[in-house]
Amino acid sequence: MMQIPGLNDALVQQLLKAAMDARQHSYAPYSKYLVGAAVLDEQGRIHAGCNIENAAYPQGWCAETTALGHMIMAGGRIARAVMVTGAGSEIITPCGGCRQKLREFAQPADLIVIAGDSTGVRAHWTLEQLLPASFGPDHLKNA
Ligand code: THU
Repeated sequence: MMQIPGLNDALVQQLLKAAMDARQHSYAPYSKYLVGAAVLDEQGRIHAGCNIENAAYPQGWCAETTALGHMIMAGGRIARAVMVTGAGSEIITPCGGCRQKLREFAQPADLIVIAGDSTGVRAHWTLEQLLPASFGPDHLKNA
């Protein structure tokens, strides 16, 4: 099993299960690329989501976005970790838009982004690694 600094294994497994369960709800009739995500918030709660596509293709959205929506609706405001699960030989990684959406609710160096699939954890990064020199809420202070 892949160890992730700052997250205990049991929690990583909970995130993986929550994301894989959410993936079963994926609505992806066009790409057929099913995605599940699970966000760990500052209260230790897990919020899950799937991707939801649309016949008007650009209107679809990612699993991470659904999960963040659930976190916000539950009163969570800081994302500590996010598990994203896909399938196939290519390891999943959040799209650029989702990296920016996650940035809103985390300090980039503090958010652990984990990629997984049915075989387990495949890779992990900090958001800082995936979205360096990011634009965030601080830029709008004193503007
Ligand atoms: N997708 C996600 O839900 N999350 C990612 O991290 C990558 C891409 C979705 C969007 C679309 O429904 C499908 O995967 C193919 O791009």
